[in-house]
Amino acid sequence: MSKQITRRANAISPFHVMDILAQAKALQAQGRDIIHMEVGEPDFDTAAPIIDAGIQALKQAKTHYTPALGLPELRQAIADWYQTYYKVNVSAKRVVVTPGASGALLLVMGALLEKEQKVMLADPGYPCNRHFARFVEGQVNAVPVGAEQNYQLSPDDIASYWDDETRIALLASPSNPTGTVLNEAELRALSTAVKQRQGTLVVDEIYHGLTYDNFHAPTALAVDNEAFVINSFSKFFGMTGWRLGWLIVPEAYIDVMDKLAQNLYLAAPTMSQYAALAAFEPQTLAILEQRRQILEQRRNALLPALQDLGFHIPVTPRGAFYLYADCSAFLSDALPDSMALSRYLLNEAGVAITPGLDFGEFEAKKHCRFAYTTDEERLLEAVNRISKALKI
Ligand SMILES: Cc1ncc(COP(=O)(O)O)c(C=O)c1O
Repeated sequence: MSKQITRRANAISPFHVMDILAQAKALQAQGRDIIHMEVGEPDFDTAAPIIDAGIQALKQAKTHYTPALGLPELRQAIADWYQTYYKVNVSAKRVVVTPGASGALLLVMGALLEKEQKVMLADPGYPCNRHFARFVEGQVNAVPVGAEQNYQLSPDDIASYWDDETRIALLASPSNPTGTVLNEAELRALSTAVKQRQGTLVVDEIYHGLTYDNFHAPTALAVDNEAFVINSFSKFFGMTGWRLGWLIVPEAYIDVMDKLAQNLYLAAPTMSQYAALAAFEPQTLAILEQRRQILEQRRNALLPALQDLGFHIPVTPRGAFYLYADCSAFLSDALPDSMALSRYLLNEAGVAITPGLDFGEFEAKKHCRFAYTTDEERLLEAVNRISKALKI
């Protein structure tokens, strides 16, 4: 049978870490103990009050579609969250409940990007963004960003790289894979630079809630009421498998998002939406805060341990659960790049990490990402094993 796969689908590349994962599974099948530091989701199960609310919803047969923009109570609860957590006033009308941040990214790209138009984004960055852009026949304007600028786009980048086709600047704060966070002044300056070019600011805030050193990441909505803000129940709220996120849009875009949501997926999962109502309850937030503290302790333990081995991590990430490390010190003719190093560490040390190539091209071959989504003891065991494998 001849295959008829579109150019747009063929242009989407699988993650390099899938190779590592397949290899990890094969090794596990042989009885090897693998420490997973490649996984981009918290290891904690969904908090009990949320699970209970989900069970209740099913028992009450909440099994029908919700409106495409989401359950009104949940849209209101999300709007209230902006008030309590950020002291920012967002009307519930502007909240679009989506199947994960992924659903929100699809809506944003579908509504804002014409064929051939570009999204400006940081390299390294979350890999799916360029694929979403390609899927709607758009393009990316990937800007190389290094440690000296906290791995985030700057207003100077906007000035240097913006061109006639660029329509959107997409930021992520905290960022995946670097965990760096934009402060309010930086967000404001970026918003101004984008507005000066009649562009649209889209900010992925999926790792909000997971910030450290007593730092509270500001929402872009605090400085730019016209920004599109993406968030999710996946990370801080620990609900990856429930497939639930949200998008805040300016009022003028509510109708188009409603129409797209109706046509692309009808609505986000109903039981997940009911379950998520419990996510903002004080008892749930207390559990989530404890987990945030555990992640902070893990970061505090893993960061110096990797630095001691010789991984160069010049910026201390203040959010998410990733360390983005320059691994040049360990590269050689035998291990020419971070992909080879990742394979080697998996085979020799039984430690799975993500090679930089999954996050773009800029200096990707000498970087890798460590996720601290496993407990501290295992993380330090991984460091030990890496140390032995690299004969340090
Ligand atoms: C930066 C970023 N944005 C969006 C997503 C998509 O998450 P979800 O669809 O589970 O909300 C992820 C997942 O890892 C991510 O890291």
